[in-house]
Amino acid sequence: MKDRSNFSNKLGFVLAAAGSAVGLGNIWRFPYLAAKYGGGTFLLIYLILAVTFGFTLMIAEIALGRKTGISAIGAFKSLDRRFGFLGFLASLVPVIIFPYYSVIGGWVIKYFAVFVSGGVQDAAGDTYFTDFISGTMQPIGWFLLFLGLTAIVVLCGVEKGIEKVSKVMMPILVVLTIIIAVYGLTLEGAMEGLVYYIQPHMADVSAKTILAAMGQLFYSMSLAMGIMITYGSYMKKENHLESSVRQIELFDTGIAFLAGLMIIPAVFAFSGGDRSALSAGPGLMFMTLPKVFASMKFGGVIGTIFFVLVFFAALTSAISLMETIVSVFMDKFGWTRRFTGILVAILAAVMGIPSSLGFGSLSFISWMGMSVLDIMDFVSNSVLMPIVAFFTCVFVGFIIKPKAIADEVKITDGKFKAEKMFNVVIKWVAPIFLVLILTSSIASALGIFTL
Ligand code: TRP
Repeated sequence: MKDRSNFSNKLGFVLAAAGSAVGLGNIWRFPYLAAKYGGGTFLLIYLILAVTFGFTLMIAEIALGRKTGISAIGAFKSLDRRFGFLGFLASLVPVIIFPYYSVIGGWVIKYFAVFVSGGVQDAAGDTYFTDFISGTMQPIGWFLLFLGLTAIVVLCGVEKGIEKVSKVMMPILVVLTIIIAVYGLTLEGAMEGLVYYIQPHMADVSAKTILAAMGQLFYSMSLAMGIMITYGSYMKKENHLESSVRQIELFDTGIAFLAGLMIIPAVFAFSGGDRSALSAGPGLMFMTLPKVFASMKFGGVIGTIFFVLVFFAALTSAISLMETIVSVFMDKFGWTRRFTGILVAILAAVMGIPSSLGFGSLSFISWMGMSVLDIMDFVSNSVLMPIVAFFTCVFVGFIIKPKAIADEVKITDGKFKAEKMFNVVIKWVAPIFLVLILTSSIASALGIFTL
């Protein structure tokens, strides 16, 4: 993509952007957050945010990229010198996400290895997952393997090949997810879980839930970190921006919804009505799915295929995360690709190890009940990304003005259907809301007050 070769058609663009967006965020992160934050309540808030905030920000980012033709760091600066810091802040997000993303990627490879060697019954054991992550060398080993594979792909420049493979795998993953979800729903007790997952309870709505949903939205759609700006810089003017954004969102949200459908009802089926299982956090998928597979005919094979597919979804996202960091460093310091790649890999290894050990020997490190991995996740998704999103809104709303974006959207056929909503959300609704939600979360973190 170095020569800014354009995506040849709209479908190509939508698939490429969705390919980077769909990853562990959809399959691993969305279900555990939805389970933890009230099921249907979380789902409803997420959907509302997706069609308002998510839509507005993605339009803004892709349009910024296409308009300027450069990636995040440069795009803001090229339009207003005072906003150079925003590009920097946005690029910091992948630096924090990438290491712990690879830790989870390692867990996925580990589960693949267990399933392929016939360990489906072992993996379904109650303490299997906690025994695994509380270890020292094992989880670190799998983490370094995932990181190493990602680094090799980036250093050898073979992303294109991996992307092709993953494009074939993605539809298979969707089909398999549907099959597992349908099977899971037939289990005893699953219906109660389905109701929990889709029925909102207004009484559960809290600032914390909204912040969690918003962080997830940014994370899952790769917003507020410059990625979509870079993608936009490769998009052709003939492709309709607004409908592309709708399609990417639909794709991303659809897969997240299905993943929740596959995991949350199954949690109910296997916990025998014990609701505390819902707050398992990052381990939820790894604790629940093996039980589903173990109860299935051919569960060993299905589980193996499932973890391979998830591995590819994770790998493509990790490649694009690492690629972003590498290109930022290369642009900034003028280093070679090889040197930068190795440096970023070492940096990620050093940063990821505490996240991995946070469930074992470093488990004494805890802040508001969060482990090291959760803290990294919280800082990037619930603090940094809302800040980047806020300044992006101010930048578009008051510096370059929404019209600049609207003009870019309209280039293709003169239409921008949701222009009115876009204007109001980017200038007023989103920035005010972001400030409220950030203050309230910082205040509650510091124990001042809780909304
Ligand atoms: N959206 C990806 C997912 O759902 C994760 C992600 C966050 C990402 N930021 C990214 C992927 C940047 C690629 C590039 O898993």
